Amino acid sequence: MLFKTPPIIESIIRESVNHNFAYRYDMCVCPVCKNDVVRRALSAVHPARSEIEAVSGDEALRQVRAENNLAINNAILHAIEYVSEHPPHPQAEDRRKTFKLLLQKILQERGLDFRNYHIDLLKRRFAIRIKANDLYSYTEYMKLLDRSPREYEKLFETLCINVSEFFRDPPLWVTLQYLLEKMIAEKRAAAERTLAIWSAGCANGEEPYSLAIAAAEALRPHAALIHAHIIATDVDKGALAAAQKAQYSPDSIKNVNDRLLAKYFIAVEKPGNGETARNKIYRVKETITDMVAFSALDLITGDFPKGIDLLVCRNVFIYFKRELQEQILRKFFEAIRPGGYLCLGQSESMLTEVRKLFEDTDSNARIYRRP
Ligand SMILES: C[S@@+](CC[C@H](N)C(=O)[O-])C[C@H]1O[C@@H](n2cnc3c(N)ncnc32)[C@H](O)[C@@H]1O
Repeated sequence: MLFKTPPIIESIIRESVNHNFAYRYDMCVCPVCKNDVVRRALSAVHPARSEIEAVSGDEALRQVRAENNLAINNAILHAIEYVSEHPPHPQAEDRRKTFKLLLQKILQERGLDFRNYHIDLLKRRFAIRIKANDLYSYTEYMKLLDRSPREYEKLFETLCINVSEFFRDPPLWVTLQYLLEKMIAEKRAAAERTLAIWSAGCANGEEPYSLAIAAAEALRPHAALIHAHIIATDVDKGALAAAQKAQYSPDSIKNVNDRLLAKYFIAVEKPGNGETARNKIYRVKETITDMVAFSALDLITGDFPKGIDLLVCRNVFIYFKRELQEQILRKFFEAIRPGGYLCLGQSESMLTEVRKLFEDTDSNARIYRRP
């Protein structure tokens, strides 16, 4: 069978541009701009053959793709570059300026300051909400926030990705368990009676409850003598409300071993479902929830607690620019009592600017000590 090449090339270009536009956050992605990209890319691809012989449409597509792949990709790349600089309609907005305005609006109306977050990460996250509402510009999105303030909640959920799980990064928890035992032994020797732990950026509660379980285990011989309490804070009030319910899916507890699961969780059947492990919800027992106090705290603007023995702040700095990380690390230093510890996430590191404040305890585990 003979197949005409141009319509096949057009369908390849359309599919690829659709895919590309779904992820773009740095240019206007309205239908007019999208069509202009397709038109420009199409006019730049000149296939060697105007027809192709193949046994089926799929085979023809495969052949055309193989023969023209490089030319098509280059044409799309150039077309996107051109249209992002010269959109085919009057610029609805100066995107850089309106993005700044949007962040200012959020600061003014909700008191949350995202101005020092990594800008690409932020723009990608905003693009998700803008697309979900079938909008194309920051200006339109600001209007939506005025019309429908509930959109703020969805936006914050998207910006503050609350992904977490119990005992996230299991090898770290072996180190933390050992550290807690050592700290408790030191407390006993100094006749001190409290152990203060802070989970900063606690998301839906998996981290502070894991810390409470680890502390309860470490305290076993000394439970009557030392009181451990966990301060758990996050900027996202929705996440804190979920944390206080203390109910988790099987996925969240996959790193909890059977002994701890039996000791510190109650498995509850989901109503109306059969009796399998996946249909269960795991509720943290009161012995553990009683050890944890949740409160809203923005690490950028909030007042930090003091006298902390162990501060755990993992997978939060990924959002912040370097200067902001430094500022927060200095405030962490003040929050930790002399001799206390700071634990950062696996992908985070102590900045050189503040490294001299802390001693390395275990740099693989990202654990540091205030001398
Ligand atoms: C990926 S979760 C990390 C949860 C947990 N620490 C862990 O490692 O599994 C990141 C958390 O940081 C919080 N966060 C982001 N910006 C924050 C800020 N300015 N102040 C406090 N928490 C913030 C988010 O709301 C989110 O719950």
